[in-house]
Amino acid sequence: MKLLVCGGAGFIGSNFVRQRVQENGDDVVVLDKLTYAGRRENLEDLGDAVTLVRGAIEDPVKAREAIGDGVDAIVNFAAETHVDRSISGPDAFVETNVRGSLVLLEAAREREVPRYVQISTDEVYGSIEEGSFTEESPIVPSSPYSASKAGGDLLVQSYFHTYGLETVIARGSNNYGPYQYPEKLIPLMMLSALHDDNLLVYGDGLNVRNWLFVEDFGRGISHILAHGAPGEVYNVGGPTESTNLDVVNGILEHTGKDESLIKFIEDRKGHDRRYSLGSEKVKALGWSAQVGFEEGLERTLSWYRDNPSWWHPIVDSADFREYYERHYKRPLTWREAASR
Ligand code: NAD
Ligand code: TYD
Repeated sequence: MKLLVCGGAGFIGSNFVRQRVQENGDDVVVLDKLTYAGRRENLEDLGDAVTLVRGAIEDPVKAREAIGDGVDAIVNFAAETHVDRSISGPDAFVETNVRGSLVLLEAAREREVPRYVQISTDEVYGSIEEGSFTEESPIVPSSPYSASKAGGDLLVQSYFHTYGLETVIARGSNNYGPYQYPEKLIPLMMLSALHDDNLLVYGDGLNVRNWLFVEDFGRGISHILAHGAPGEVYNVGGPTESTNLDVVNGILEHTGKDESLIKFIEDRKGHDRRYSLGSEKVKALGWSAQVGFEEGLERTLSWYRDNPSWWHPIVDSADFREYYERHYKRPLTWREAASR
């Protein structure tokens, strides 16, 4: 296929592009703004199979340029994605996740793109104490991030109902794996442990997330791209539900570090207690998760251990250090630890 993958230089997008190029032989155009979270390096092993267009999805000229002579499908991963950043600065979230989705949908309609896949999140359903969300569950987002993702999803639905654009929405649960920007729980805790720094856990650490290895999400998206019914939503949930404390303890075990590194800090504002996603609908399309949490955690840790040349420039950057200090109200001391 010829695919336009928006946000393809980020964590999940670049893993998806790698899978499509290596397993399907696809020809891929990536449209990416290369924000702090997007990196050319994430795609550099893929050579000529990928063309990178640097630009924002909310720029209609760039969106048209990236579609070029036409594509078989658009898969939209482009988003501002970190809940904590959305709490301190929500504007960019609305601009990219809502307005950006609208501009892309309009470009897809105008150029008669045959298929549009929106990558969304379980967070649009809000928090659930017991049981699991289905695709019929009401949309009750809690954070500016999840509210902006919900806004994008509703626009996607409106383009199906109003214009007959062949849309599908894939709602994934929390992803982890190689190439994840180290502001998110799993890579941040892994790098903290490797540097003998504190693992900073919000609140009581008993919030539950439904962890999905990034390659499994990619396979789920491919199933939905190929077989999803137009206008439908598909949940793609991971095989494991864990409290944050269990995740952090698992990382300490895998790195051989002591529990005394765990430090409880002030809770996130509006912190969703539990996510749990029922995935029967995508399973009926033939998908199931292949990678268990233990294996995924081990593979992720090995990748971060083996690729310091990937994460060093990030954690040494002014952007990351400023973000870390502002958010955690303590300086990042890893450079000093590394040079000791
Ligand atoms: P990420 O932050 O690693 O990557 C986002 C990418 O989008 C980056 O390459 C960034 O440069 C690009 N981008 C940001 N704003 C842009 C804009 N205006 N125009 C063009 N490109 C822009 O995020 P991720 O974790 O890979 O998430 C990808 C998608 O999957 C998002 O839509 C997110 O909501 C969704 N999702 C993520 C998770 C998760 O656990 N990470 C779970 C479910 C769904
Ligand atoms: P995160 O990776 O930010 O994903 P999301 O908020 O989208 O679920 O956070 C996962 C969980 O880990 C969430 O309950 C918040 C918690 N968390 C911490 O306890 N400490 C941290 O430093 C971070 C980044 C997250």
